[in-house]
Amino acid sequence: KRVAILISGGGSNMVALADSMTGDHPARPCLVLANTAGAGGLARAAERGIPTAVVDHRPFGKDRPAFEAELTRVLEEARPDILCLAGFMRVLTEGFVTRWQGRMLNIHPSLLPKYRGLHTHARAIEAGDAEHGCTVHEVTPELDGGPILGQASLPILAEDTPESLAARVLPLEHRLYPEALRRFAGGDRRRFTLA
Ligand code: GRF
Repeated sequence: KRVAILISGGGSNMVALADSMTGDHPARPCLVLANTAGAGGLARAAERGIPTAVVDHRPFGKDRPAFEAELTRVLEEARPDILCLAGFMRVLTEGFVTRWQGRMLNIHPSLLPKYRGLHTHARAIEAGDAEHGCTVHEVTPELDGGPILGQASLPILAEDTPESLAARVLPLEHRLYPEALRRFAGGDRRRFTLA
């Protein structure tokens, strides 16, 4: 299976995914694509010998379909079987999502369906939740709303700030996403909880 990973920033989830696809793993990374040339993850992909591409969304302004048409053109050259959104910060239209639905995953830093959207760590603390975590789900047109593949959780500590909580959730993401991709690429779509 060929996996294209879409990033916007440092790409720590991309690195975790890329480094997990070895040995008898049924998938290999075929492309890392960023929506900005400044994404730090591009260099980390290149040093791993993974082909990279940039499709900057800014020249397209508000014309999301035009941006996504270019995204699709670049993606299709890499012939991916699976797309992994990993810290990809652009909302995708229903048209794009429908085209890739069933083959596109995303990781979200909350225990969905709680806290869709942004600022998830602050919202969990604000709500007084005892635990928080991350979710890998299939991408559907509903933002952060697709079928859940896997979740991992941890306790929220009394002294947690959004930053300290995010710093503990990120390594959990790096364990959850590779496990979710391994199962998904192997044809197992049953929901699981990371031990
Ligand atoms: C992080 O906030 C992570 O929780 C979310 O995307 C952001 C950047 O992740 N999934 P990465 O280091 O670019 O993978």
